[in-house]
Amino acid sequence: MSSSSSCRKFLDSRFVIGEKEVTRIFILFIVMTVSGLVLYKTAYPLQRLDVVNGLTSLLASPSPPLPDLKSSEISPEPTKPNNTFREILENASTKNNTVIITTLNQAWAEPKNIFDLFLESFRIGQGTQQLLKHVVVVCLDLKALERCSQLLLNCYYLETSDTDFSGDKAYNTLDYVRMMWRRIELLMQVLEMGFNFIFTDADVMWLRDPFPRLYPDGDFQMACDKFFGNPSGFDNWANGGFLYVKSNNRSIEFYKFWYKSRLRYRRSHDQDVFNKIKHDPIISEIGVQIRFFDTVYVCGFCQPSKDINLICTMHGNCCLGTEKKIHDLNLSLDDWRKYMSLSKHVENTTWRAPNRCLEK
Ligand SMILES: *[C@@H]1O[C@H](CO)[C@@H](O)[C@H](O)[C@H]1NC(C)=O
Ligand SMILES: *[C@@H]1O[C@H](CO)[C@@H](O)[C@H](O)[C@H]1NC(C)=O
Ligand SMILES: *[C@@H]1O[C@H](CO)[C@@H](O)[C@H](O)[C@H]1NC(C)=O
Ligand SMILES: *[C@@H]1O[C@H](CO)[C@@H](O)[C@H](O)[C@H]1NC(C)=O
Ligand SMILES: *[C@@H]1O[C@H](CO)[C@@H](O)[C@H](O)[C@H]1NC(C)=O
Ligand SMILES: *[C@@H]1O[C@H](CO)[C@@H](O)[C@H](O)[C@H]1NC(C)=O
Repeated sequence: MSSSSSCRKFLDSRFVIGEKEVTRIFILFIVMTVSGLVLYKTAYPLQRLDVVNGLTSLLASPSPPLPDLKSSEISPEPTKPNNTFREILENASTKNNTVIITTLNQAWAEPKNIFDLFLESFRIGQGTQQLLKHVVVVCLDLKALERCSQLLLNCYYLETSDTDFSGDKAYNTLDYVRMMWRRIELLMQVLEMGFNFIFTDADVMWLRDPFPRLYPDGDFQMACDKFFGNPSGFDNWANGGFLYVKSNNRSIEFYKFWYKSRLRYRRSHDQDVFNKIKHDPIISEIGVQIRFFDTVYVCGFCQPSKDINLICTMHGNCCLGTEKKIHDLNLSLDDWRKYMSLSKHVENTTWRAPNRCLEK
C-alpha cells in the first residue's frame, strides 16, 4: 500500500472513525513523524556543513541522515598548531641544547627598524647565517608575532596581561623596568627546562659566530659596556644585552636569587640589581661562575671593538633614541660590508659608529 492511497483513504473516512481507523491514523502519524524527522536531520547538518566547508561538501554529502555531530567536530575555527614554549625551544635548539633568544615588540618589528638590521647582520655576518634557525623570537605583542611569523622564524608569543609592551619604551620608565623583569623570569624558565641560551637584544649586530668565544668554565657570561681586562672582574661595566648562560643548578639558583632581589630594590631594572647583588655572599655560596666578555669580541658603541678581524657582535648601547640608533647600527653594517669585500686582514680598525648616537 502506497502512502498516497492511505492518505486518500484517511481523508475519505475522516468522519467514520472506528477502531480500525484509529490504528490506521496512529500508524500514519508515526510514518509522518519519522519522515519529518529524517527530513529535518538531513537538511540541518547539511546547512551547517555548508557554512563550514563551502558548497563542495553540500554536493558531496550523502543523502542519508548523518550521525549527530558534536559542535567541536564542526567548529569553524581552523586548528592551528599551538606550540608550547618548550616545543619551540626544542625545534630551535642546537645539538648541544642551546638556543639564541631575543625579544621583539611592535616598534622594533616595523620594516626599516631595528629588527631588520638584526636579521641583516645574520645574513652578512661570518658563519652567522646558519645560526638563524636557532633563534627564538619572544614576541611581546601581536604585531610583533605577525611580523615574526611572516619571516618564518621560531616565534613565541609572550602574553603580558598587565602591561602594553608594544611601544618604544623609554629607558628606565616603569614599563621598561617591568619588561626587563618579565624577561629575567622567562630566561629563568628556559634554564629550568634544561636549555642553555645566548640572550641577545635585537639591537646587537651579529657579525661573527660568538660560540667559539664563550668561556668554557663560565655558568653566566655577560657583555660589558666597558671591559677592563679581567674576565672575572666585577669592576667591568656589565651589560645584560648579550648573555650566555649554561643551564645547571648554579645558574638556576642564581637566576632565582636575582629575580627575587627585584623586591628589595623596587623600580630598579635587572642590570642595576645585578650590580647591587654581585658582591652578595650568596653568589659565592651558590658557586655560580660569572665571566665578562672582552669588548674586542662582544662590544657596543660604548667601547667598539679594537679589531674588526675579531669582532663577533656590535650592540647599539650608549645610545638614546631609536632613530640615531638605527642610523649608527646601519653605519656599522656598512663598515662590515666594506671589510668583507676587502677579504683580507685589516690592520687598524676604524668604525664610523657611534656617530649620531654621540649627539645630545
Ligand atoms: C594555546 O594558546 C592559548 C591562547 O593563545 C593559550 O591560552 C593556551 O595555553 C595554549 N595552549 C598550549 C598547549 O600552548
Ligand atoms: C654548541 O653548538 C653550536 C652550534 O652547533 C656550536 O657552535 C658550539 O660550539 C657548541 N658549544 C656550545 C658550548 O654551545
Ligand atoms: C641602511 O643603509 C642603506 C644604505 O647604505 C639603506 O639602503 C637602508 O635603507 C638603511 N637601512 C635602514 C634600516 O635604515
Ligand atoms: C622550526 O624551526 C623553523 C626555523 O628553523 C621554523 O621555520 C619552523 O616553523 C619551526 N617549526 C615549528 C613546528 O615550530
Ligand atoms: C641539580 O641537583 C640535583 C641534586 O640536588 C641533581 O639531581 C640534578 O641532576 C642537578 N641538575 C643539574 C642540571 O645539574
Ligand atoms: C696602524 O696604526 C699604527 C699605529 O697607530 C700605525 O703605525 C700604522 O701605520 C697603521 N697602519 C695602517 C695600515 O694604517
